[in-house]
Amino acid sequence: LATYKTLEPAPESIETERLLLRPYQPGDGEAVLEAIAESRAELGRWLSWPEKIQSLEAAEDLCLRRRAEWIRREDLTYGIFLKNSDRFLGATGLHSPRWDDRAFEIGYFLRTSATGNGYMTEAVKALVEMGLNALAANRLDAWIEPENHASIRVAELVGFTYEGCLRNFQLGTNGKPADYNVYAIVP
Ligand SMILES: CC(C)(COP(=O)(O)OP(=O)(O)OC[C@H]1O[C@@H](n2cnc3c(N)ncnc32)[C@H](O)[C@@H]1OP(=O)(O)O)[C@@H](O)C(=O)NCCC(=O)NCCS
Repeated sequence: LATYKTLEPAPESIETERLLLRPYQPGDGEAVLEAIAESRAELGRWLSWPEKIQSLEAAEDLCLRRRAEWIRREDLTYGIFLKNSDRFLGATGLHSPRWDDRAFEIGYFLRTSATGNGYMTEAVKALVEMGLNALAANRLDAWIEPENHASIRVAELVGFTYEGCLRNFQLGTNGKPADYNVYAIVP
């Protein structure tokens, strides 16, 4: 572990065949708001934070806070952009990093108009590779509700292993206790 967490090496961009992944930067709020606005029904079923993003200011604030957390290495969120058009498609990232243990939690969402193209599988594969190599991760895990079949499929396609089910782990977006499946990748 570096003495100074801010000096932990983490790539500022990741390129795949079709995608560019990079941390949010000032001005991204507009595209992020547009993506969330078109996807509220699909995101809101599984994630609680999109509901809070209802204005340009809220979206820009989200991007700037993620950017600040990135610099502090408290969260490594990457926006996902289509390489040939710069279109914002969604995000994936390594959250709640436990640097001492080199363990990271992976998350992802795609705007609804971009689903069905395999983009997230491509993005998460690249993020996992980065985590295992550049960050020397010992563990990457994903916490997914058992009914979230699209998300589970992404985890499976990337190569995550099902480890078990945490029953009533936390409240779902409907306010009722929800089960979470744990999927993980280790080197
Ligand atoms: C999870 C999410 C990123 C997946 O996006 P996607 O566009 O479906 O991803 P892909 O196009 O890469 O498809 C992945 C696989 O899921 C499958 N899939 C998609 N929707 C499905 C569904 N409702 N049921 C079963 N499988 C499904 C696809 O067929 C594909 O598998 P295949 O290649 O074997 O055919 C997207 O649905 C999303 O943003 N959901 C809301 C946010 C969320 O749930 N995030 C994860 C929280 S844990």
